[in-house]
Amino acid sequence: MEKEFKRTLVTCALPYANGPIHIGHLAGVYVPADIYVRYLRLRGREVLYVCGSDEHGVPITIKARQQGCSPQDIVDRYHGIIKDSFEGLGIHFDIYGRTSSEVHHRNAAEFFRKLYDEGKFITRESEQYYDPEAKQFLADRYIVGTCPKCGNEGAYGDQCEKCGSTLSPEELINPKSKLSGAAPVKKKTTHWYLPLQDYEPWLREWILEGHQEWRTNVYGQVKSWLDGGLQPRAVTRDLDWGVPVPVEGAEGKVLYVWFDAPIGYISNTQELLPDSWEKWWKSPETRLVHFIGKDNIVFHCIVFPAMLKAYGDGYILPDNVPANEFLNLEGDKISTSRGWAVWAHEYLQDFPGKQDVLRYVLTANAPQTSDNDFSWKDFQSRNNSELVAVFGNFVNRAMVLTHKYFGGKVPVCGNLEDVDREALAQIPQLKASMEKNLEEFKFREALKDAMGIARVGNKYISDTEPWKVAKTDLARTGTILNISLQICADLAIAFEPFTPFAAQRLRTMLGSALNWDVLGRPVLLPAGHQLGTPELLFAKIEDDAIQVQLDRLARIRAEREEAARAEAALQVEPQKEECSFEEFEKMDIRTATVLEAERVPKTDKLLKLTIDTGIDRRTIVSGIAAYYTPEQMVGKQICILANLKPRVIRGIESRGMILMAKQGDGSMRFITPQEAVCNGAIVG
Ligand code: MF3
Ligand code: ZN
Repeated sequence: MEKEFKRTLVTCALPYANGPIHIGHLAGVYVPADIYVRYLRLRGREVLYVCGSDEHGVPITIKARQQGCSPQDIVDRYHGIIKDSFEGLGIHFDIYGRTSSEVHHRNAAEFFRKLYDEGKFITRESEQYYDPEAKQFLADRYIVGTCPKCGNEGAYGDQCEKCGSTLSPEELINPKSKLSGAAPVKKKTTHWYLPLQDYEPWLREWILEGHQEWRTNVYGQVKSWLDGGLQPRAVTRDLDWGVPVPVEGAEGKVLYVWFDAPIGYISNTQELLPDSWEKWWKSPETRLVHFIGKDNIVFHCIVFPAMLKAYGDGYILPDNVPANEFLNLEGDKISTSRGWAVWAHEYLQDFPGKQDVLRYVLTANAPQTSDNDFSWKDFQSRNNSELVAVFGNFVNRAMVLTHKYFGGKVPVCGNLEDVDREALAQIPQLKASMEKNLEEFKFREALKDAMGIARVGNKYISDTEPWKVAKTDLARTGTILNISLQICADLAIAFEPFTPFAAQRLRTMLGSALNWDVLGRPVLLPAGHQLGTPELLFAKIEDDAIQVQLDRLARIRAEREEAARAEAALQVEPQKEECSFEEFEKMDIRTATVLEAERVPKTDKLLKLTIDTGIDRRTIVSGIAAYYTPEQMVGKQICILANLKPRVIRGIESRGMILMAKQGDGSMRFITPQEAVCNGAIVG
C-alpha cells in the first residue's frame, strides 16, 4: 500500500529555547532528519524542512526567574545559540522559526478559537495547586514532590525524570511550590480539555491498523497509550507566559505549551511561505514526517493528530514518525541540569572543522531501536580507524598517485580484469541497500553501506597496488586509478547526506557532480578530466584532545558524586525499637586509650588496635581503616563496648568494639570524651 507522494514535509521537534542543544538531541532528531532531507534532495524530490524554537512552557519561566530576567530574554539567548549550532553542523532548515513570533501567536490562537467555536473542547472546573505566598497557580514544573512510582524526591508536576513516568500534580507526595517552597493549597480553576477518548477508535484504525510499518518503539508506545484508555487532556494553563487563551473569561490563562508548540510547525511554514503553505499541510500528495525523540511520541502520534483531526479543513497527518530512543554519555544518562552532556556549541569550538566527525559518530551509534552510548574513545577510534584510515586514506592514495603518474588528469580506463569488475559490481549493490535503508529511516545501516563503498575502494587499491604496477605497466596503473577515482566520485555522492562538509571538499577536489543517479556508474569522471589539488579529507584526532573532554567529564562526575555523598551523609536512620534500662545496663561501655595500631594484612578495612581499658590491655580489631590511619589512632582516647563477646577476626581475637558515630553515607568517626578522663571510666 505504498502511496505515491509528490513532496515531503520534514519537521524536527522544536527544541525548547531554555538551554543549548546537546549530542542527545542531535543523535535522536536533527542528524537523522538532516540525513533524510539531504538524501531526498539528492534524489531530486521536493522537500520542505521545518524547525524552530519552542519558546513557551514552565521551564523557561523558571529559568528566567532564577536568572532575574524575562522569559523573552531567555528565549532570545537560546534561540540564537541553538540556531547557530544547527548552522554550524550543516543542518540548514528552510525555516527556523519561533513560537513567540507574531505569526505563531495569531495562528495558534486561531486554531484554538476554531475548535472552541465548534465545541470541540470540554471545560472542567477543578481544584489545582496554588501558591498562597506567590499568589499564583502552579502548573506542571512549578510543583515538585516525591514520585509515587519510584520515590524520587525531585519529581515534577508533569513528569518524573528518574523513572520517566508521566504524572499529574495531584499524584506527587509532599508537593512543594518551586516558587516559594511553600506547601501549595488547592484552588478552583476552569480549563479547556480536548476529549482525547473521543478520538480513540479513529486513532486505533489510523495507526494500529494503518501504520504497522512504523518503528516498533513508536507503534508499541501508541498501542499502550490506547490500550490504557485515553483521557481528556487540558490544553490551557494558569500562567502568564505563552499564547493567551483567545476567549472571554480566560484572563491569566495561556495555551498549554504542548498545544501551541506543534502548531508551530504550521506557523513556521506560513511564515516562510505565506501564499503556498497550504500545499504542504493540506494536500494528500504531501508526505508528512516528524523526527522526534521518544519522549515526544504521545504528542506527535496522539495529541497533535487528534488536534488536526478535530480541526479538519484538510490537514494531513504524519505518514511516519521515526522517533529515536535516547543516547547516553559515557554510560550515564545525559542530564542538562547536572551538566552531563556534550553541547553542540562547545563541540564546534573545541573541534573546529570536525562537524562531520560528530555527525558520523552520532549516526554510527544512533539510538534507533534502543538506547545507545556515546564515548569519547569511540569517537576518536571511529574517526581514526574509519574516517581517516579507510575513507580518507583511500581518497588520498587515489588522488596523490594520479597526480604523481598522470599530472592530476584522470587516466584512461583500459580492459577490465576480474578484480576491477568485482570491485565495481559491489557499488550498485551497496547503493541499492543504502536507498532501502534510507527510505526506511535506518540511518545507521545506510551509513554502513556508504562506508562499505569506501572499504571496497580501500581494499581495491591495496590489492591492486598501483604504486608497484607503475614501475612496469603504466597503462594498467591508469586503469586502476581510473576505477579508484570513479569510486572516489561515488563516495562524494554517497557521503553527502552523512558528512556533507567532506563530501563537498571531495567534489571540489575531483571536480565531480552531485547526482544520485550516476552513483555506481563508472562514468563519473571522463578520462582526461583535470583534478584539483589533493588535500586530506579527515585528520587524526590525538589523545590529548580526547583527554581534555574526558577530564571535563571526570570533573563533573566528581562534583556530582561529592554532592550525592554529602546528601547521603545527612540521611538519618529512624529510631530503633524501645529497650529497657536493664537491657541498656547490660552493656559495659568504658573509656580506653589506643596504645598501638597497625593494619591487618591483606584487608583494606581493618585495624588491629592494642588498647588500655583501665581494666586490662587488650586487642580489638576494628573496621575503621577507611577513615583512620594507624598513626591517627595511636594515643587517642576512645569508648568501647568492653563486654562484647570475643570474636576471632582474621585469626586475631578481638575483645570488644569501638563506639563509632556512623553517618548516612557509611562514613564513621570515633567517639572521644570531650576532655581526657581516666581509662576504664564507665560510660552510661
Ligand atoms: N520542545 C519539545 C521538546 O524538546 C518538543 C516540541 S515538538 C513540537 O521535547 F511539536 F511541539 F513542536
Ligand atoms: Zn519516578
